[in-house]
Amino acid sequence: MAQPAARATVLIVEDDDDLREILVRGLGERGLKSVGYGSAELALSAYGQHEIDVALVDLKLPGMDGIAMCGRLSEQPRPPAVVLMTAFGSVATAVKAVRAGAADFLVKPLDLDVVAHRVHRVLDEQRVRAEARRLRAAVDRADGFGELEGTSVAMRQAYDLLARSAPSDASVLLSGESGTGKELAARALHRQSRRSDGPFVAVNCSAIPEQLLESELFGHAKGAFTDARTDRPGLFARAHGGTLFLDEIAELPMPMQAKLLRALEERRIRPVGSDAEQDVDLRLITATNRDLEERCETGEFREDLFFRINVICVQLPPLRARGTDVLQLAQIFVEQFAESAHKNIVGLSADAAQRLCDYRWPGNVRELKNCIERAVALTEHEEIVPGDLPERVRSFRASHVVVAADDPSELPSLEEVERRYILRVLETVNGSRSTAARILGVDRKTLYRRLERYKNAGN
Ligand SMILES: Nc1ncnc2c1ncn2[C@@H]1O[C@H](COP(=O)(O)OP(=O)(O)OP(=O)(O)O)[C@@H](O)[C@H]1O
Ligand SMILES: [Mg+2]
Repeated sequence: MAQPAARATVLIVEDDDDLREILVRGLGERGLKSVGYGSAELALSAYGQHEIDVALVDLKLPGMDGIAMCGRLSEQPRPPAVVLMTAFGSVATAVKAVRAGAADFLVKPLDLDVVAHRVHRVLDEQRVRAEARRLRAAVDRADGFGELEGTSVAMRQAYDLLARSAPSDASVLLSGESGTGKELAARALHRQSRRSDGPFVAVNCSAIPEQLLESELFGHAKGAFTDARTDRPGLFARAHGGTLFLDEIAELPMPMQAKLLRALEERRIRPVGSDAEQDVDLRLITATNRDLEERCETGEFREDLFFRINVICVQLPPLRARGTDVLQLAQIFVEQFAESAHKNIVGLSADAAQRLCDYRWPGNVRELKNCIERAVALTEHEEIVPGDLPERVRSFRASHVVVAADDPSELPSLEEVERRYILRVLETVNGSRSTAARILGVDRKTLYRRLERYKNAGN
């Protein structure tokens, strides 16, 4: 059967010079560009010079063997599919090969047509997987990303940036108020990355006591401290080959910030109490609900670390800036909770929907979700009505910046309008004073002074 012309490069690692040459030539004649090396070490040192899609590796090699080579190849930024070749076609060897991550294995003596056919098959599988990833990303880009829902302009911008950054290895900083979906976004980024088969390790930096952080992150050697009875790998090592998600990164104490920066720059860690360093290959995602730029200015966060983790910054907008997303999400949550509670509830009454739109949602999607869960549990109607909503939501009155009133005594003073407007802008930009000052066209000091004044006046 004629195979489509492939531009793929096949890496052949075989210590028998004659066989290696036959393979390189034979595969070349069958449309597969190939390069050959006599040992794993040579192949690895030249690895970056070619775009390798498939590696054909002999099991028995001088020096590093085929199984170890398989492990090393899986650590490459763009790992190739590995086909192991062996003269010993036992079940035990096959199992060993598959465990080591090989996509296929061939028993010698080799028939060149069979080798070419199997390489093409592995390449086809690779293409199908890449295409599935691409399609999944395209679908997500249209009306959501992973489990993130909502179709507001602000969210579509976030989905677009998330979808474009997913396949790369660049560090992503997710910023947004509490409950805006940062963790959901981090998990979806991992699932749509080329590391999706690897681990996803989530760490909440503020939940680990300062004195334990280093050993939790980097691991420790036996005897490093009183309770260290055995070597213990840290979260960095557990995330090897996958994604490490550092949540609430702003809370990382200064000394750890320096150690984290070093680990990220050198891509190496040293467990507490150990002399040996370990290589780590992972994609870093961080999240914060603080203004990190401001923290850099006040000296609470290292600027060099900030640049390192902030290669791509995705802002998740607060729910109140997401227009009718609040109703879309509410409907989704009503259906979800009604189904699991076996209740027949179709949606929201017009009045309840209006209250949800007016409310400011300081706890964002998390607060909305809890609010709907409660309403579904309590309601005795087919629709959620205002009475099913918590008091704070039900009785909230939107404070508009400019108040239209017929009675002149109800009109606010200029200073009052200014106060409301400043607070509104600040709310819209997630509390970031530097951004708010830019929008308001005043310098930051002026803004700080106003805010101090409002605080002292009890606002
Ligand atoms: N766009 C969304 N669509 C659907 N569900 C969402 C969305 N955003 C958040 N959620 C849900 O809201 C809850 C909070 O989300 P998540 O934990 O990802 O927020 P977060 O930004 O990490 O919050 P925090 O800063 O408090 O850790 C979760 O139950 C999540 O499933
Ligand atoms: Mg979170």
